[in-house]
Parts: sequence; structure tokens; C-alpha cells
Amino acid sequence: MKSSAINKLTFYIEMLKARYGSGEYFIEMKISFKSGTKTFPASVKKEEGELILIFGGAREKFSWDKISEVAKEYDAMQLVYRERGTDVVIIADDRNVTMRYDDMAQPEKSTTATVGERKYLIAPPKANDLLKEIGIMGQNGKIKNDMVRKYNQIDHFVELVSEHLKKLDGDIEVLDCACGKSYLSFALNYYLKDVLKKDCHITGVDYSQTVIDASVKSAKNLGYNNMTFIKADLTDFKPERVPDVVISLHACDTATDMAIAAGINAKAKAIFAVPCCHKELLGQYSYAPFEPLLKHGIFKARQADLLTDSLRCLLLEASGYTVTAQEYISPVETPKNLLIRAFRDGKNMDKAKKEYFELKRMLGINPKLETLIKGELN
Ligand SMILES: C[S@@+](CC[C@H](N)C(=O)[O-])C[C@H]1O[C@@H](n2cnc3c(N)ncnc32)[C@H](O)[C@@H]1O
Repeated sequence: MKSSAINKLTFYIEMLKARYGSGEYFIEMKISFKSGTKTFPASVKKEEGELILIFGGAREKFSWDKISEVAKEYDAMQLVYRERGTDVVIIADDRNVTMRYDDMAQPEKSTTATVGERKYLIAPPKANDLLKEIGIMGQNGKIKNDMVRKYNQIDHFVELVSEHLKKLDGDIEVLDCACGKSYLSFALNYYLKDVLKKDCHITGVDYSQTVIDASVKSAKNLGYNNMTFIKADLTDFKPERVPDVVISLHACDTATDMAIAAGINAKAKAIFAVPCCHKELLGQYSYAPFEPLLKHGIFKARQADLLTDSLRCLLLEASGYTVTAQEYISPVETPKNLLIRAFRDGKNMDKAKKEYFELKRMLGINPKLETLIKGELN
């Protein structure tokens, strides 16, 4: 190729090099050098943290300059740089050198990506590797019957927080409290990086070694290098990385409080929590005017659930968050279907604090969340 084409190619290769950065999202690079009608394939792979060029039957340590150097000897070349969610394609010959970005996360037109009528964000076929790895899709490419609910839960969760995620800048740090097998973390990671093209790092915490091991294995199999899983009890967990976003899905009982407190104490920009079962307030609260209404155990228990979650929302407001609470999925999928979404903006703090302490006094309760929040509330 002529020097003018090589200069332009070198410019694009520099852009690729910058894009590669620490290589966290890199998958592989495939190059075809062309001479007349003959094609000479090469590839670049990451092995034990190092880039290796495989070309002409030989393997050597890769250097970015090498591409232009080799291209000089050929008539044309095509390069596909694959990273999570995006293919960058460079096509070069003496007439033209072009670079384009192919979005790998867009569903193909022919694919409905639905179970029933729903359009999924974590959508086949692009998300097939992920869905298979986390056990939602079978090797036959079909969503497993017994995993449809889980799929719906994580996809709805991601959908309902997506508008807020889009507003976050920079490298987004996510903390998943009581991550379990980390279905939600994997889905969110895919959505942030492969769909929204935002850099992110996700830490999953759970006190079960089994689920941590399973999550580490899945991340490795998927090449998701931007995930860390830690076996720890949330009771005394101190995150090393300050989270921008804290999530929890069905963290048992007061583990949801620990998740919310982790977010508040780190001044996280957003906290998204789907609470699980509650036990805490049932044995604590009483309110004389309501005694006739609460004489049936089931009403007392349901009222305790309601109180727990509404007081969580109030404490979030008292800590400087704007809060919404809604059903994130049909109760047929799971009765534990409340999503609390909280965004830090410093509004309404005084009013919410006053309301919280008044209710606490009236009901004779001592909610766990309050005890976990550091600094002055009252
Ligand atoms: C119902 S599972 C939910 C898992 C996951 N978030 C999901 O939705 O698939 C609850 C998880 O909370 C974890 N857990 C409960 N209390 C915890 C605590 N104090 N610290 C860490 N993990 C906890 C359990 O080990 C379990 O994996």
C-alpha cells in the first residue's frame, strides 16, 4: 500500500490502541492482508495479560506498529477489532482507508427476542453467550421454562433503572449486595457495557462461598474482566471501591437494609433495591388506634412489610435521596416485587427526618436501617 494509505491506517491503529486501554473489554482482533487474489490471515489474542500476534504460522508478542509495517507489503487489508458490544472494522487499500463501528448488542431485525410479547433488553441472539452462561438459556438457544421468571425479573429490573443509568458518566462502579449467583450483576454488566457502551466495574458480595465461586467461574467463561466477587457478610463489609450505584435483589430480611446503608454511607448516586422477606418490625410495632384492624395476624404481618419498606424510603429521603417505589414485575412472577429506586440529590431531608422520627416514636419501633446509617440523622 502507498504511504498516504499507510499514514491514514496508522492514525486509525493509534485510535484502536487508545481504545484498547487496559484491554478489559478486548476479545480479539482478526486481520486479513490481501495481495492480488490471495488472502493472508492474522489474529491477535490476549494470553495471560499479553497480546500475541499469530501470523504466517508464527507467534510473537504483538506491537501496534506491526500492523502498518506489515500492511506496507500488501495491496489491501481488513481488520476487525472485537470488544464487548462493539466490532471496529478497518478496511484499507490505496484508494480508501475507512473505519466503522458495528454495534454488536443491537438485536438483529429478524429476531423477535421475546418470550411471549415482551421485548427484552438483554436480548437474544446477541446476549446468547451471557444467557447460556448464567443458565437462563439452554444450549439449544431456547429460554429454559424454569428460568423465564428469573429472566423476566432481571430484565425488568434493568429496564426500570436504565433511564437513570444512561445519565451516569465515567467508569460506573456498581456494588451488588447479596448477589447470589449474580444474575442481575451479569445482566447489568452486559447492559452497561455492551448496550450502553459505558465502562463499568461490578463488585458482587455474598456470604455463600458456593455462589461466589459460581459467579467467578461465569465471569471467567464470559471474559468479563470487569467483575469482582467477594465472599463476605454484609454485616461488616466495607467496600474497597466507592460505589456509584448499589443494587440488591431479594437480599434476605435486613440484608436489604445493609445494602441500602452501604449506598447511603458511600453517598452512592443511585440505590436500587428489591426487598425480600421481612421479619424485623412484626414483633416491634404497635399502634393503639389500629388494634381492631391488626387483630388478624395476616394483616399485622402485611402491615409490618409495608411499614418496613415505607420507612426505608423515608430514611433514604432523610439521607438526601429522591425515592420512588413501584411494582417492578407482576406479582405472578414473584410476590416480592417492590422496587425502591433512590437518587441522591439532597432534597427534602429535613421534612423526611422529622416525619421519620415522629413515626418511630408513635409506633415504638427501632428500624435496623437507621442503626446502620453513619453520621447524624437527627
Ligand atoms: C434470595 S438470594 C438472592 C440472590 C440474588 N440477589 C438473586 O436475586 O438471584 C439471597 C442471597 O442473600 C445472601 N445473603 C443473605 N444475607 C447476607 C448477608 N448478611 N451477607 C451477605 N450475603 C447475604 C444469601 O447468601 C443469598 O445468596
